Amino acid sequence: MSTINKPILSCRHVGKSYDNFVALKDVSLSIQESEKIGLVGANGSGKSTLLKIIASITERDEGGITTKKDIAIGYIPQTFTAHKNASVNDFLSEAINKSRGVLPGILPLLSRIGFKETILERKMRDLSGGEKTKIAMLRIIISPYDLFLLDEPTNNLDMNALMILEDFIQKSAKAFIIVSHDRALLDKTVNKIIEIDAISKKSIVYDGNFTDYLNQKKKRIEKEWATYTDSTEKITETQKSINKKESWVRKLEAERNSLRTMNKKEKEKPVAAALRDKEAKMGRRARIIKERLQKFKEEKAPEKPVHLLPLHVRFEVDERSGDKVFNLEGVKKNLPEKNIGPIDMRISYGEAQLYYFRRTDKPP
Ligand SMILES: Nc1ncnc2c1ncn2[C@@H]1O[C@H](COP(=O)(O)OP(=O)(O)OP(=O)(O)O)[C@@H](O)[C@H]1O
Ligand SMILES: [Mg+2]
Repeated sequence: MSTINKPILSCRHVGKSYDNFVALKDVSLSIQESEKIGLVGANGSGKSTLLKIIASITERDEGGITTKKDIAIGYIPQTFTAHKNASVNDFLSEAINKSRGVLPGILPLLSRIGFKETILERKMRDLSGGEKTKIAMLRIIISPYDLFLLDEPTNNLDMNALMILEDFIQKSAKAFIIVSHDRALLDKTVNKIIEIDAISKKSIVYDGNFTDYLNQKKKRIEKEWATYTDSTEKITETQKSINKKESWVRKLEAERNSLRTMNKKEKEKPVAAALRDKEAKMGRRARIIKERLQKFKEEKAPEKPVHLLPLHVRFEVDERSGDKVFNLEGVKKNLPEKNIGPIDMRISYGEAQLYYFRRTDKPP
């Protein structure tokens, strides 16, 4: 008997707005047992929101989510803000609902990330940023979830801890949805990428790892442009043919009028009739093509593609200035090869991330 792969979780047409702001519009995905999925998208595209909706931390407005019965889903946020007064041991124990004593199997794991047993008694609030991140990672590894939702799990991890996490995800029989800007991590761990398009707020599924996703996305953008260009050319050509026919009609009409104003000879009547005939025929053809073109424009012609592409910004500054590093609003620049913009970008002090711009013309 063949076994049918039934997803452990599926979302269908999930949508979410904060007041009037649309954070997610139409997101669909499904994940199988032990499947590893990378969730990508520009800053603010709604990745964290989606993870929180799946984890039932945030409510959705639209769509449906179904899960396997009794599934344990764990959302691991980017930073743990609570637990300040808890000891490391309590913090780790909480993950497996164990209330007393040292966790089984924890000591070798601690030593692998360079900690001694004594760290267990220290308070979470006393740990350094790096130590905290490593302990948070350790907590992920010992958590008994069926589906892990990891939100930027590698921020601030050192090489050693990063390798442990990678290894854990690769070997785990559990399912993972991973939000990460770490391309190498996604390349090594996932076999499907779900992108939330920052403009449409809809999900697009790509098979493969992150590199495969970039290649497929490039092809997809090229294809969208090719389809758009073809359609634009078709519209221009058709319009030209309509114009030509209409100008013929006008010419025939003028000829007929000039016949009429000249002395009306009997023998010219058949010529006028023939002209009128031709005129009507040509006019009919022009109208039919015009209607067809209108229908094509309304129903089939693709819209101009709009995509976000990364913009790399580098600052070389010695001293801190203000809170606002810089703001751009609706900035446009037209170059011979492409037009870019309108760009909206806001960078505050301390932010160092990938930023994106909306491009309005052909990719290079
Ligand atoms: N509680 C909230 N109230 C209002 N707006 C919110 C709230 N939470 C998120 N948003 C907005 O919804 C959008 C999506 O946010 P979200 O945090 O899901 O994005 P993200 O893809 O995780 O971004 P990043 O890559 O920066 O982590 C953002 O524009 C954000 O400002
Ligand atoms: Mg986020």
